[in-house]
Amino acid sequence: MNRREFLRKGLTFGFLGTTFAAFGSVLLDVWLAAGKFTPAHWQDVAPLRSAMSASVVPFPEKRVAIVVRDRQIAALNLECTHLGCIVTGGSEGFFCPCHGSDFGPMGEVYSGPASEPLKWHKVLIHDGLIWVRSGEKLDRPLWVSLEG
Ligand code: FES
Repeated sequence: MNRREFLRKGLTFGFLGTTFAAFGSVLLDVWLAAGKFTPAHWQDVAPLRSAMSASVVPFPEKRVAIVVRDRQIAALNLECTHLGCIVTGGSEGFFCPCHGSDFGPMGEVYSGPASEPLKWHKVLIHDGLIWVRSGEKLDRPLWVSLEG
């Protein structure tokens, strides 16, 4: 191998190595980001007794409200279906402070701009705590009995 061939191969391998390293870095970022934004997991919301004070008990820091009916509970997602702001409210219904959508106490749309009802989460009771399946939204409530 003469000097010219050596330099040409060196530049070629250097270019390919840099390209693969950059591409691998982008793929790694995408993979890690995907892991952050698909966090379907169970999170504890509150002790069960704290959700028994009203028919709808919001926990905005957890982005969820616990709805209590007929000795059953369900978990309503508090993210507005318009652009995702956290709605405020409770037993009388919910209001979005960002663009003014109004929702009923079961998440039904009273007025827009939101056109879809609030979503729901799976919920369970374990060790006296209410757990909600975050990152997985449902169109209907899945009621869980308080009887055990
Ligand atoms: S984000 Fe709620 S109305 Fe726009």
